[in-house]
Amino acid sequence: MEFKKKILCIGAGYVGAPSMVMIAWKCPDYKITVVDINARRIDAWNSDKLPVYEPGLDAIVRKTRGRNLFFSTDVEKQIQENDIIFVCVNTPTKTFGAGAGMAADLQYWEKTARQILDNSQSSKIVIEKSTLPIKTALAMERILASGKGDITFDVLSNPEFMAEGTAIDDLENPDRVLIGSRETESGLAARAELAEIYSHWISSDKIITSNIWSAELSKLVANAFLAQRVSSINSISALCEKADADISEVARAVGTDSRIGPKFLKAGIGFGGSCFKKDILNLVYLCHFYGLPEVAAYWESVVKINEYQQERFIANVLRSMFNTLAGKKICVLGFAFKADTGDTRESPAINITRMLLAEHAEVVITDPKALGNAAADLAGEKGKISYIEDPYLASSGCHALAIMTDWDLYRRLDYSKIYQSMIRPAFIFDGRNIVDQQKCFEIGFNVFPIGKPALTRL
Ligand code: NAD
Ligand code: UGA
Repeated sequence: MEFKKKILCIGAGYVGAPSMVMIAWKCPDYKITVVDINARRIDAWNSDKLPVYEPGLDAIVRKTRGRNLFFSTDVEKQIQENDIIFVCVNTPTKTFGAGAGMAADLQYWEKTARQILDNSQSSKIVIEKSTLPIKTALAMERILASGKGDITFDVLSNPEFMAEGTAIDDLENPDRVLIGSRETESGLAARAELAEIYSHWISSDKIITSNIWSAELSKLVANAFLAQRVSSINSISALCEKADADISEVARAVGTDSRIGPKFLKAGIGFGGSCFKKDILNLVYLCHFYGLPEVAAYWESVVKINEYQQERFIANVLRSMFNTLAGKKICVLGFAFKADTGDTRESPAINITRMLLAEHAEVVITDPKALGNAAADLAGEKGKISYIEDPYLASSGCHALAIMTDWDLYRRLDYSKIYQSMIRPAFIFDGRNIVDQQKCFEIGFNVFPIGKPALTRL
């Protein structure tokens, strides 16, 4: 079959692959190829067991793979063959040198830019889909312009706003698609070419265009604002616990103001995921770089409150369980950083499990999708850890349940049955406020919610 356009994506991770799967599904006349240097990942994308768990993803991959969607490790050949290239490689926090612990590590990004330059025999549109510091496109342009010959490259910024667990719906019905470009004749033509792809399923009023630096910065700012709401509500949850107010009631009262809105006001053990912390720290670094220490301190406090919330949670567990966890068995319900994903990157459950182990507790971890990642995250930790998928078996013989992930499954468990199999007094630390806390108290548990008075007989 002759395809109308050929599109390449470099980076087959949580974002690159699902976003290309969506383009392949919505644009059957385009050929989409996704490449990665990680051969195991590519093999998994070509198998029946995809490397990413995302509701609805398998069905679309089955419809498109081998038709107009292809996964490959041959990065160089694919660069030669495609003229529209999305770059969706990882941009983690730098762990060494200047800016360590804050700035984005751009080594994967720069390597990709050089690979594109070395393997291009025709002009190309290169699209930043990774989340990047402002002015990365300039570095990209300079690398790409350093080649000999008369081929040209237009760099666009098209940050991705999907969230894990809802990626398919977010990609199919996004609030907006943002395309930043240079405002030159060829920049605007490249912008139009990319907008044309999205226009297959997204209405034109949702395709927003801007200058390229605004687009790069908007992605960092959107994540910073979302994380800030979580830290804001979590900070108030601490006050609620002291002053007998109920954080759910406060969130409802505040969120019904249409100027504030109800979303992202769920108090819990803090935000996880690969991006919020990394992107805020990157923003903080940029503010320092541009000589804005007050702005940097403002955003850094969002991360500090997130850490405080996890420390507060463990302090509460310790205090409530008579100031000793040594030898006690704690069941950690959920290890993924949120429901409907197997991703555990920066999951609060990692820190909280480490803090439990530091108190010499024995930890039993259960999760419907994330046990493999949990075991990898905790490899090398000292202490007793076991991994049991069945929550009833996992909680049997435990002193306490610590709910870390808002899996719907945990709302619907038979807590009477669980209570029967636990050591008394039995505790629930509901880090997501998802169980029926009054009912659990009536069953016999001592219940410690977030941001609400504890229900306890002790
Ligand atoms: P990821 O680690 O899951 O995937 C990145 C992939 O890029 C890896 O498989 C890696 O092997 C590959 N890669 C690295 N260098 C390469 C190279 N030179 N050639 C080919 N492949 C290469 O990361 P992710 O979660 O998909 O995130 C990617 C980017 O998207 C990040 O900048 C992130 O901030 C951003 N983002 C992530 C999300 C999310 O929900 N995870 C949402 C929006 C934006
Ligand atoms: C987030 C953003 O929502 C996406 O728009 C963005 O594209 C993505 O980061 C990214 O750049 O990687 P994601 O991290 O996948 O998406 O998931 P979220 O739904 O934002 O949740 C992040 C964390 O905040 C989770 O740990 C979640 O449990 C927590 N959270 C969220 C709360 O504790 N309370 C809330 O009210 C909402």
